[in-house]
Amino acid sequence: MVDWQKVREEFPVCKKYVYLNPAGGSPVSQSAADEGKQFYDEMLEYGDTFWETWLERTEKVRIDLARFIGAGREEIGFTTNTSHGMNLVAHILKNQGNVLTMRDEFPSSTFPWLNQGTKIKFVEPVKYAYPIEAIKKTLTPDVKILVTSYVQYCTGFRQDLEALGNFCRDNNLIFVVNATQALGIFPVDVKKCHIDFLVFTGLKWATAGYGIGGLYVVKKWLTNDNFPFAGWRSVQLPEKMDNLALELKNEASVIESGCPHFPNIFALGGALNMFNRIGPENVANRVIQLNRLLEKKLRGLGLKVICQDENKHRSGILIAKIENPKKVVAKLFEKNIIVSARGEGMRISASFFNNENDIEVLIAELDKILYSGYSG
Ligand SMILES: Cc1ncc(COP(=O)(O)O)c(C=O)c1O
Repeated sequence: MVDWQKVREEFPVCKKYVYLNPAGGSPVSQSAADEGKQFYDEMLEYGDTFWETWLERTEKVRIDLARFIGAGREEIGFTTNTSHGMNLVAHILKNQGNVLTMRDEFPSSTFPWLNQGTKIKFVEPVKYAYPIEAIKKTLTPDVKILVTSYVQYCTGFRQDLEALGNFCRDNNLIFVVNATQALGIFPVDVKKCHIDFLVFTGLKWATAGYGIGGLYVVKKWLTNDNFPFAGWRSVQLPEKMDNLALELKNEASVIESGCPHFPNIFALGGALNMFNRIGPENVANRVIQLNRLLEKKLRGLGLKVICQDENKHRSGILIAKIENPKKVVAKLFEKNIIVSARGEGMRISASFFNNENDIEVLIAELDKILYSGYSG
């Protein structure tokens, strides 16, 4: 049994706030912050003399991230955010054909393709979901790439990646996943799901903060003429510093062209260790449990709620349909309750560090704001 109260201690932010906004930006976990802090302490006291140790630590995080998503070490590159990763993917796939994606994708999933002139087609949602049947109906022969978020940011719909991966394999589609609204809390197995490329940022459910993202590239796309930029660390033997020997690595880390963003990479490592200690399945179940409780309580207030019935399509996000969401969000903020206005109302996202009491506090305050003519 997980001691969720103990887990909550990883997030000192919970002492001040009822924090229900990891879908916007999560607090970092203590485990992540400690790893970043250790780097700064070392550099503060010892300058750059830890370079070799930091490189080793970077490789350790790479292995940890690879294991976390079922990938090979050489298939993992560190980026700074989702957009960075998706731009790389779009570049690699520039001449492969048109893209099919979901109507309410976050712009980081669409802009990199639009920017390079790739044609995008959209699947329309069915009851805020993207059933594979709907995707199938929209598929045309010119489409060669399918891009989807694992979890949609403004409805909380969670895609069945395994089923969609099988569909992509059967239809010869390159499968690209934006896992930003899921990575950390919902396990992903890139091989089982036949994912070709996966991108995410550490800022949201991964609890690793700003400046760190991940890129997974399935081995078959790791040909070294594929990557758009190169620097001294893109080659197999960077220490040689031979400025003519452009022998690019056949690994996703080829994208880490210069000195690494160590503290951010280490923070991700700390966060992954935390998830492994708690147990990824435990984390996922806890998030679903809180999401269900939120739905029940919001419906109890008479509100319409956007979320999915089935657990496999449920996520950490739900939307409460209300009038003037921005105003309500601002009023809640005054009471140290953090949510955001998104989609068709107010987006509430509860993570594994939240608890039942957070939900009670939110519901009590919402009740006052919405129904008591309360202005305080
Ligand atoms: C699905 C999704 N992708 C990406 C992002 C953020 O993009 P980036 O990491 O490039 O800042 C968000 C932010 O809300 C998101 O919801």
